[in-house]
Amino acid sequence: MTCHMTECRTVAPERTVHHAHEALLEDGTSVSQLGYEYSGAMLDQLREQVPFPARLKTAVLRRQVDFLAGRLCAQRALRTAGFEGDVEIATGEHGAPVWPANFLGSISHCDGFAIASVACAQRIAALGIDVERQMSVEVASDVRRQLATDQELALGRHGSMSPEAWLTVLFSGKESLYKALYPGVGRYFDFLDVTAVHLDADAGTFMLELLTALSPDHPQGSTYPIRFHWNADRVFTRCVVPGYARPNAQRFKPRTDGSH
Ligand SMILES: CC(C)(COP(=O)(O)OP(=O)(O)OC[C@H]1O[C@@H](n2cnc3c(N)ncnc32)[C@H](O)[C@@H]1OP(=O)(O)O)[C@@H](O)C(=O)NCCC(=O)NCCS
Repeated sequence: MTCHMTECRTVAPERTVHHAHEALLEDGTSVSQLGYEYSGAMLDQLREQVPFPARLKTAVLRRQVDFLAGRLCAQRALRTAGFEGDVEIATGEHGAPVWPANFLGSISHCDGFAIASVACAQRIAALGIDVERQMSVEVASDVRRQLATDQELALGRHGSMSPEAWLTVLFSGKESLYKALYPGVGRYFDFLDVTAVHLDADAGTFMLELLTALSPDHPQGSTYPIRFHWNADRVFTRCVVPGYARPNAQRFKPRTDGSH
């Protein structure tokens, strides 16, 4: 994440954990991340700290470790965001995590790396994060029509990004938006229901604009800011929609000036 931090600490590494890191960012969100290996020892270590759901007993080791690592990050991010006490973050409809009252957040995992971000619901209206490894040239070529229009592909070229780098960022940014909006929208929406505008590749920002209405709070034309940054071959994206003191249908009103 672009780390505009007010508070940050590296957590002492445990046996099979490569690194662990927590931060409270200036936008009011907390972030917790963990690098780990896929092993029985790692699974045991995570099971000491996070409730293990019965439905995961038949899952492959990789899924079990990813799930628990994501939940451990979520617990730590919750505490950093000010939540007190113990809580089990259940899995709700369509896989979305169920956060304690007055908090919201998002989880992602990718090849031995998990991250969670949490915020207080009074301050932030929606929050989604995602991590992806850069697509190969072949994968980018295979998926580009499902992910992006010609105009979106041109945006990446104007930002001097390779097609595979831009498609990875775009894919991840759209997944972040999906995770952010799903709790309010309550249904699947597609990559082509949303289009990218105003890419600033140097600043690591762009906007996603709805091409179709998703709900009364999310009409067609609504725009959402996406931030991204690279760490080696992984891209991190986040979509943070600030909360408003007077919630109403206009809070996601489209911007016409391209600011974010
Ligand atoms: C759900 C989805 C976004 C997850 O992304 P992913 O890259 O496959 O996997 P990640 O590791 O990044 O994220 C997985 C986590 O997302 C969270 N998640 C899953 N479904 C979710 C939902 N409907 N809403 C919010 N968060 C969700 C969960 O915490 C999950 O981890 P867990 O199962 O261990 O709790 C993706 O699989 C998907 O279905 N995408 C299609 C919909 C979409 O993105 N449309 C684009 C609209 S612009």
